[in-house]
Amino acid sequence: MPLLIKNGHIVTASDAWDADIYCADESVTRIERSIDVRSLPANTETIDASGKLVFPGFIDPHVHVYLPFMGTFAKDTWASASEAALLGGTTTLIEMICPGRSEEPLEAFETWLGKARDVASCDYSFHMGVTRYDESAEKQLREIVRRGITSFKVFLAYKGALGVDDTELFRTLRLAKELGVVVTAHCENETLVAERQAELIAAGKTGPEWHEPSRPVEVEAEGVHHLMTFAHLTGAEVYVVHTSCNEAMREALTARARGVRVWIETVAPHLVLDRTFAERPDFEGAKYVMSPPLRAKRHQDSLWSALQARLIDTIATDHAPFDFEAQKSMGCDAFTKIPNGIPSVEHRVDLLHTFGVATGRIDLHTLVDCASTKAARIFGLTNKGTIAVGKDADLVVYDPNSRWTISAKTHRMATDYSAFEGWEMRGRSSAVTLRGRVMVRDGKLVGERGQGRLIERRVAKVS
Ligand code: URP
Ligand code: ZN
Ligand code: ZN
Repeated sequence: MPLLIKNGHIVTASDAWDADIYCADESVTRIERSIDVRSLPANTETIDASGKLVFPGFIDPHVHVYLPFMGTFAKDTWASASEAALLGGTTTLIEMICPGRSEEPLEAFETWLGKARDVASCDYSFHMGVTRYDESAEKQLREIVRRGITSFKVFLAYKGALGVDDTELFRTLRLAKELGVVVTAHCENETLVAERQAELIAAGKTGPEWHEPSRPVEVEAEGVHHLMTFAHLTGAEVYVVHTSCNEAMREALTARARGVRVWIETVAPHLVLDRTFAERPDFEGAKYVMSPPLRAKRHQDSLWSALQARLIDTIATDHAPFDFEAQKSMGCDAFTKIPNGIPSVEHRVDLLHTFGVATGRIDLHTLVDCASTKAARIFGLTNKGTIAVGKDADLVVYDPNSRWTISAKTHRMATDYSAFEGWEMRGRSSAVTLRGRVMVRDGKLVGERGQGRLIERRVAKVS
């Protein structure tokens, strides 16, 4: 059904103006100051966006939905995660495929795809996790890239599980350079983490408050430095995920200054939560255990400033949902066994609006750039990330004056807790469209479920 969004204030990464948007056949086909409804087909659906902002659909380039990890499975399904994303204004997710070392990459790709296909209500793609590199894996990775998955993921952490060794890292980057794909990387020195964890546990320091000291900023900075050296020597394009601290960011920026092709991501939890949350008594801190860990508050100022200066490129969530009662509790006698991750796919945009835009730390264009446009450009989502004639009609009608409160009782994510319980938000998506279909109206899910599509990507060229 054709769609008209009337009287909105359009905001993109670079511009803002008042206009009506007309969408047909999944795309934006007209953007004009005032579109006469009499010129449109009789069955055109209309959304009145008076007093509201209209953003391009937001893109979260780093989520986990199906995730076998630390002896359990992440809690969401693609139904719950994609619907939560849409409610929060996110219309495209890129999930990390995280196979075990003994799994075949193509099988893993099919497994992960099978979880999303026909179930996802938003569009999606994947980063292909490289957790083993040998001749057979290489052949399969080439095939996966041919199928439109044009980015890899490597872990320099999680020793003995998802992590790769240096030979595997080098060969992955060399292949990526040859194919022109981006390598996303979790950067922490896994040996330092393992040694420090063992020391802390032996000293009886077992609570969640010891998670951060087990992987301090130097561990992350060293991981980024390590990746930068390998990227420099292979010429591969790399993307540092979930940058949590000033020291790690500086390593990436220094490398960028000497010509390394590096993109920098930070995530919503690191922007709005600090390490004191993981120090909460009675094991409540476990709700806030993720890696890299939540940091001292001073790092948030560095991250926000770097965003406004567009030195950091993207803001994702690293959504990794585990229940508090049955899953986080697996680590009640040792923080090393707490499944790492914070559920946040539903609230990224509102958190950024509340703590970034409403406080003046970032402007609206930076919000759009870092939470949508840049991810589309880096990862080759060529029809997404902005509002223009010919682009997918993924649109968010946003009410900046809405006031509401986050609660696990009302969120769509599958977890039994929210890391932001009771927080008052400023701003909320009132309508969300996916390729011209209205999926959210008046803040409620209304669209036909399971309409999300795998977006086949081609190698991106970004300047
Ligand atoms: O704590 C996190 N980040 N959990 C998910 C896995 C990862 O490292 O991204
Ligand atoms: Zn990670
Ligand atoms: Zn992650």
